[in-house]
Amino acid sequence: MADDQVTDYWVFGYGSLCWNPGFEFKDSMIGYVQGFSRKFWQGNIAHRGTKQKPGRVATLVENPEGFVWGKAFHLPDQNAFQYLEMREVYLGGYEVHKVDVRSEDGSRVVNATVYVATADNSQWLGEAPVDELAAQVATCSGPAGHNAEYVILLARWERQNAPDDRLDSELAELETLVICRLTAAGIDPDKVLTTNKRVSFSSMVPEKKLRCLNI
Ligand code: SIN
Repeated sequence: MADDQVTDYWVFGYGSLCWNPGFEFKDSMIGYVQGFSRKFWQGNIAHRGTKQKPGRVATLVENPEGFVWGKAFHLPDQNAFQYLEMREVYLGGYEVHKVDVRSEDGSRVVNATVYVATADNSQWLGEAPVDELAAQVATCSGPAGHNAEYVILLARWERQNAPDDRLDSELAELETLVICRLTAAGIDPDKVLTTNKRVSFSSMVPEKKLRCLNI
């Protein structure tokens, strides 16, 4: 690349990054990616679960008919990638990919980095009936908070930001079942929402790894 060429850095979030990016950005765009569905097939032992009781978080799975709404963040520089490498890759088990994100009317397309989990990572849990997903989400929590918070805040974010006729029906169903299960267990769903809880990701990484991540 020529020295004078300006590179644009974008990150696309379709999970917790939508409502809790955790890095600075100069601009953002609500948009969607085509050819994928959002699935709660990735396990999580660092943020929303533990080794003994892993939680469930979202990943993108290829589906020619599918589309997933999320938020593309325009970064001022590359600094956020170090933070995301730790949060998404090292702790979360995700891989780094690139994807085209389209605005609702299709007038804008940005090429963004996206974090995707596949069956190749050790936290992968894979497909399960929605009732099983809900049972797991409703009973797991980790250093970042309750697993139900992840699902509820993501579903809320989607309702507030994606077009009404394009909502992820699987996410909405999971949210409903999780809320039912919490309520049945005598837990007020609002009480699992603790978005002000901030996790120090660096406290979970061995010193040697921190040095190589330069964090
Ligand atoms: C994302 O939000 O884009 C990645 C998955 C997650 O961290 O929840």
